[in-house]
Amino acid sequence: MTPVASLPIYAPRVVQYLFLFAGFLALAFPATSFSENSDKVEFKKEGKAVRTISVNDLHPLARERSLEVFEPHERRNRVYRAFPARAVFDGVFGKDWEKAREIVFTALDGFQPSVPVKRFLHHDGYFAFANENKGPFTLTNKLQNDEAVTLGPLYLVWDNIGSKELLETWVSDMPYQIKTIDLKMKERFPNMLPPPGSSEDVRRGFNHFRTQCAACHTVNGDGGGKAPELNYPESIVEYIKPEYLKRWILAPQTIRYNTHMPALAEEISNREQVAAEIIAYLKAMSGAKRAPSGNPSR
Ligand code: HEC
Repeated sequence: MTPVASLPIYAPRVVQYLFLFAGFLALAFPATSFSENSDKVEFKKEGKAVRTISVNDLHPLARERSLEVFEPHERRNRVYRAFPARAVFDGVFGKDWEKAREIVFTALDGFQPSVPVKRFLHHDGYFAFANENKGPFTLTNKLQNDEAVTLGPLYLVWDNIGSKELLETWVSDMPYQIKTIDLKMKERFPNMLPPPGSSEDVRRGFNHFRTQCAACHTVNGDGGGKAPELNYPESIVEYIKPEYLKRWILAPQTIRYNTHMPALAEEISNREQVAAEIIAYLKAMSGAKRAPSGNPSR
């Protein structure tokens, strides 16, 4: 009682203001604890936690460097501070990761792209964690209405300057706000695989399908749950005329006015050939129908 009672007459009001101010702080800065949490990245193998680590604690595992990349979201070069991805994987998983099939990334908003392990073996991937010039670790996404996005905790980039192949596949393999990195040892979509002994065209078509279509569509029930099944029970090569199928891929809005399907990325230089190879793959799959087992993964 006494401390308050012995304060001058205006004390209660000061105390009130203090409480108000504390309340204001709590409301205004709830993000403080959130950003502490969001600095952590969880590494998993087949969905099971292997290690949770803050970005700063990656330093003993991999040597940080500065890396200039072509930044497709801003269509210009930028320089990031980054850790080489292979060294990070070696440090966290051991050499075993090289035998895995793909790596599934989960972003803060739940976006969940996957990148084949082969890509990391053949190209130099990096986990960027800061700007070279100490500015905020953000970018302006010109591909999504100039939306300002934060990139941390980790942003997957590639030493892409001078690599035609990397410059073409780009955005699909450059997830940002990575908070989970999950190593998948087995094929996640066995029913989507082309039949054994398929031609090179069909195999390339399958790879395009995997990166460009499978996030939304299923084949034999395997794939994303955002768009219709394309192979079972009737394949789209059976009920859509070939010239229309090509247009579905290259310019879907010229067929259906209000379609939710995006056109094959404009940045792919040989779009016609990519579309033809995807169709070759879908034709091969029409001869390899398998009834979906259960619900498509969503
Ligand atoms: C972002 C999600 C998304 C991606 C990626 C996508 N599609 Fe689609 N696609 C859709 C949706 C949604 C529909 C359903 C029809 C609509 O909205 O017009 C559709 C419809 C189709 C149809 C017509 C099916 C029918 O029976 O009418 C075909 C064919 C098709 N997609 C093929 C493809 C191929 C091939 C690719 C890869 C090059 C692809 N789509 C990539 C979302 C997607």
